[in-house]
Amino acid sequence: MWVLVTGGAGFIGTHTCIELLENGYNVIVIDNLSNSSKISLDRVRKITGNSIEFFHDDVRDKDALNKIFTNYDVGAVIHFAGLKAVGESVAKPLEYYDNNIGGTINLCQVMDAFNVKNIVFSSSATVYGEPDVVPIKENFPLAVTNPYGRSKLIIEEILHDLHVSDKDWNIALLRYFNPIGAHESGLFGEDPMGTPNNIMPYITQVGIGILDKLKIFGNDYDTIDGTGMRDYIHVVDLAKGHVAAIKAMGSFDDIITVNLGTGSGYTVLELVNAFEVTTGIKIPYEFVERRPGDIARCYADVSLAKELLGWASEKTLNDMCRDSWNWQSKNPNGYE
Ligand code: NAD
Ligand code: UFG
Repeated sequence: MWVLVTGGAGFIGTHTCIELLENGYNVIVIDNLSNSSKISLDRVRKITGNSIEFFHDDVRDKDALNKIFTNYDVGAVIHFAGLKAVGESVAKPLEYYDNNIGGTINLCQVMDAFNVKNIVFSSSATVYGEPDVVPIKENFPLAVTNPYGRSKLIIEEILHDLHVSDKDWNIALLRYFNPIGAHESGLFGEDPMGTPNNIMPYITQVGIGILDKLKIFGNDYDTIDGTGMRDYIHVVDLAKGHVAAIKAMGSFDDIITVNLGTGSGYTVLELVNAFEVTTGIKIPYEFVERRPGDIARCYADVSLAKELLGWASEKTLNDMCRDSWNWQSKNPNGYE
């Protein structure tokens, strides 16, 4: 079966392409390379020995999508394409709504026209806002505080409406927690443009000497050591969750919404400590003010993923640290 992966040249996308190919799927990628490099896909081809069809196009371009759906018998779509920087979304809300929401509507319209009604969508734990209790279950109240999060929530709602209008749509909304780590080959990983916003690429860039020291945002949260707690999940486990969702397409009457996390929370200091122990690299840090919008604790209840998809994460925090470092040390400047 052909699977169209939008945003397939990106961090989670490349890892998912590998898992799809290894599970016997044929893969087409559409990516405008606004936050990625074509080199990642060349490496996917090399490591898997499989071909990937690549279209350097934008999901907001209907002609480009029409061409793909005309030429390939697409069975399902995994929709990663979108902008993802929370801070940037506050500064450029229209770009985020246009790209994320506009892109999704365009994609669904073309899918509908070609009668392809299987879609897996990249949502985010950000839709839960600040939870009253943890672990977070899928039926918890939703609250968003920035345009990025709002774009995810609006897309979830649009996809719900689509399913109400036409029950033939099979839709999986996957809410990711904090993906880190990298493929064990060291050939693929997170390659942020400019100074990283997220913690793991920041840590690895301190490790390699690109950055001086980690700034830890706040040490007065209600956690064991005062630093923020998150559910870090290995990107390869996350990618496997997408293959599980593709395999489950069509088995449910309703749209499904599933957390993809490990079910365990680690604080920033625990993460830094795990990184130091695993790699032997010291990460100097200082505490600074809390980052606006950050929450104290966020980790997933993962029982629904097991029940509906038969999927659970397997890799440990040490695996994530080892593989992130392996990627950074083998590719000090990312893909380029
Ligand atoms: P990424 O930026 O590495 O990948 C996104 C890809 O989409 C990039 O290759 C980019 O070039 C492409 N893209 C963006 N807009 C496009 C458009 N209009 N048309 C075609 N291609 C376009 O990000 P990622 O970390 O791999 O995230 C993938 C998805 O998962 C995103 O939708 C993101 O919002 C979501 N998500 C990510 C995280 C995370 O922490 N990484 C957490 C929750 C959800
Ligand atoms: N942190 C630091 N210093 C840094 C970066 C982060 O101390 O330089 C801390 C944060 O305060 C937080 C933790 O590390 O406690 C994780 O921060 P990240 O920026 O790596 O991740 P977030 O939890 O803020 O957000 C990420 C993605 C969102 C996604 C969310 C899902 O960036 O897009 O996970 O849970 F929605």
